[in-house]
Amino acid sequence: MAHYVVAVAAWLLLFQRVSAQDRLLLVNLNSHCFRCLCHAASRCNLTVGCDGGYCGPYKISKIYWKDAGEVILPDDEKGRAGAYEDCAISYHCAQRIVTNYLAKYGRDCNDDGVTDCDDFSMINFNGGYQCKPELGRNEAGKLWLDRYRTCNPETRL
Ligand SMILES: *[C@@H]1O[C@H](CO)[C@@H](O)[C@H](O)[C@H]1NC(C)=O
Repeated sequence: MAHYVVAVAAWLLLFQRVSAQDRLLLVNLNSHCFRCLCHAASRCNLTVGCDGGYCGPYKISKIYWKDAGEVILPDDEKGRAGAYEDCAISYHCAQRIVTNYLAKYGRDCNDDGVTDCDDFSMINFNGGYQCKPELGRNEAGKLWLDRYRTCNPETRL
């Protein structure tokens, strides 16, 4: 009986943590954040297509797309060759990929106590599994960070 109570209490705590984080996420992944993630990736160039394993204005890789649950255009089929590319190069479909990915991997990457657009920017550049490395550590990261700061001057990154 005692074990059962402890297990339920632990489960409730975990559940509350997760839903608190989800609420935070919904608040901070707003339209301004989307604009800045898009600007950081490509200056939000809607015609970049696919290049070097990254597609669309958010520069989405196939692994990112898979981890986000293989989002597809409304009348497409998941298994179709090209389903990933076509969604990632379409602004609204790409936004759905990013939303799913950040709902799954969103966390406080820079340890400032909040999960906000700065963290989402780190996650989109570094990936969700190891989001903590500083963005300025290599040329691609510097470029990303420069663009992100231009869009979001209030950033703490
Ligand atoms: C967008 O990307 C395409 C393909 O790389 C490029 O030709 C075009 O000049 C870019 N547009 C802007 C506004 O940078």
